[in-house]
Amino acid sequence: MNDPYAAFPKQVTICEVGPRDGLQNEARTVAAADKVRYIEMLVDAGVTAVEATSFVSPSAVPQLADADVVFPAIRKRAGVRYIALVPNARGLERAIAAGVQEIAVFTAASETFAQRNIRTSIDASLATFGSVIARAHANGMRVRASVSTAFGCPFEGAVPVANVVRVSQALLDAGADSLSIADTIGVATPNQVIDVASALLGAGITLDRFGLHFHDTRGTALANIMAGLQLGVREYDASSGGLGGCPFAPGATGNVATEDVLYLLHGMGIATGIDIERLRDASRFIDGVLGGRVVSRAYRALEAAAARSV
Ligand code: COA
Ligand code: ZN
Repeated sequence: MNDPYAAFPKQVTICEVGPRDGLQNEARTVAAADKVRYIEMLVDAGVTAVEATSFVSPSAVPQLADADVVFPAIRKRAGVRYIALVPNARGLERAIAAGVQEIAVFTAASETFAQRNIRTSIDASLATFGSVIARAHANGMRVRASVSTAFGCPFEGAVPVANVVRVSQALLDAGADSLSIADTIGVATPNQVIDVASALLGAGITLDRFGLHFHDTRGTALANIMAGLQLGVREYDASSGGLGGCPFAPGATGNVATEDVLYLLHGMGIATGIDIERLRDASRFIDGVLGGRVVSRAYRALEAAAARSV
């Protein structure tokens, strides 16, 4: 009999986006030292890929205006990918000066969102990234590329799968090393994940080249990850505590919570290398700084269990 679990990966990489996607939407100013501590606690928990900050316009994302201070201050651990978002050549120069070794460029699968988020068209952003990626590679950097609104756009509604494939292929052609396919507003359902991931695989974009990024706005994020796992996808973005939301996407709430994803994966026997309780410690720390913003259900269950055992 065929192994019904054969398609599931044995190991998954979680890209922790709490310090970037999580914090960028928070109104309360977080001190640079607290951001650094949060990132170090996440890595102490076993996180091997973390979006640490963004070298974007400080007027676009004021919360991350201290990227030039935060990034160099992080005590780096060997083997960990510390990723920083870069929207343009100016951002790349700042990232180089800060010692970044992996950048994330980002565009969208829908025109209106590209205009609102990065104030340019999809094709113009792809042209910009061609030179940004070449210069990043010349500086020895790795480049990840995010495709926002891949499952739906807050302004245009449905997004054709063909758009996602076109933009993904164009980013790889521009030199990106890997992709993060994002449900920026948390509208996806698992059939869409199957459709998009199958279309990417069908276009020759292999499993080592793309991961998935979900927001849990409508409670479908874990089901969507399950659909990704069934197709063998082995990199997922998640935010500790479930912080997050995009300031440019009205109505979007937080990323899928890392604790919830870890509970799912570990229960299925899929390794992540992350200790869920130590990850929870990082969420608890940032929750204290933010004044109670963590929404993860697995986090709450861990906290309740800890309270019962004292
Ligand atoms: N770092 C710092 N400042 C930057 C910058 C960068 N990477 N890029 C642009 N700026 C500054 C410019 O100097 C200018 O400042 P000024 O108003 O004081 O003169 C201002 O930002 C506008 O610059 P411009 O080149 O006209 O950019 P824009 O207004 O077309 O904005 C982006 C384009 C991409 C720079 C801006 O929209 C942005 O940073 N967006 C970030 C979006 C984001 O992070 N979204 C969440 C992730 S999905
Ligand atoms: Zn996001």
